[in-house]
Amino acid sequence: MVEILEARVLNPQITLLKLKAERIAKKVQPGQFVILHQDEKAERIPLTIADSDPQEGTITVIVQAAGESTKRLCALKTGDSIRDVVGPLGQATDFEGAQNICVIGGGVGCAIAYPSAKACHQRGAHVELIAGFKNESLVILKEEMAAIADEFTLISDDGSTGKQGFVTDALKEKLEQGKKYDLVIAIGPIIMMKMVCKVTEAAGIKTLVSLNPIMIDGTGMCGGCRVTVGGKVKFACVDGPDFDGHQVDFDELMQRNRTYMEDHRCHLEEAK
Ligand code: FES
Repeated sequence: MVEILEARVLNPQITLLKLKAERIAKKVQPGQFVILHQDEKAERIPLTIADSDPQEGTITVIVQAAGESTKRLCALKTGDSIRDVVGPLGQATDFEGAQNICVIGGGVGCAIAYPSAKACHQRGAHVELIAGFKNESLVILKEEMAAIADEFTLISDDGSTGKQGFVTDALKEKLEQGKKYDLVIAIGPIIMMKMVCKVTEAAGIKTLVSLNPIMIDGTGMCGGCRVTVGGKVKFACVDGPDFDGHQVDFDELMQRNRTYMEDHRCHLEEAK
């Protein structure tokens, strides 16, 4: 069993869990993920590691209550336990050599954008961070992101906090101001990553995206997480989750992620 050292509600839909996981904390690199399995009846939930402390032997994950299993995870309290946690899985983010980096997070994707930006900052890169949310009530990790970014831009769809607009508006504005980046990292809803990639492709800026396809085993065996990148089939759990955003078939990914939406909706109805 894996102990929850801290369970903190970040907003009505999102909960932070700090877990005692010494061996994972020693090995994890930015961009890697774990699979949480709350109990025998629960689904296996892949979550990118938002933070880790090898001295303390802890990892932090941030969970969005979307289905029954994630709702149950979000309801856990400090002192509760999780049946098993597997990881670290996947490849670490490759930001070698990049010195001017723009990291863009959307919604709960900021839970992954934050550690990526922090790792870039710790390696001495100039890091600008754009974080976008639907509205003020959904903002997470604002202070943490602002603390590690050389320039932090908060955006909301409705203007209730930060600038009104989308993350792509903020990115375009920066590029129009003459900012130069050798890498953009975009993490958030698929449509957001697709739109960011359109902007960066036109500007000729290398762009990494962190993909979130359906995952089951997380070990490259089941094929559930397959995505098409550069015309080739890749498994996000072993080849990713980061990929060259200009090579990703986002439309196929959106279609595959919608496959079980109706089943998912029925399941949630039954669980009420
Ligand atoms: Fe099964 Fe990736 S989750 S192959």
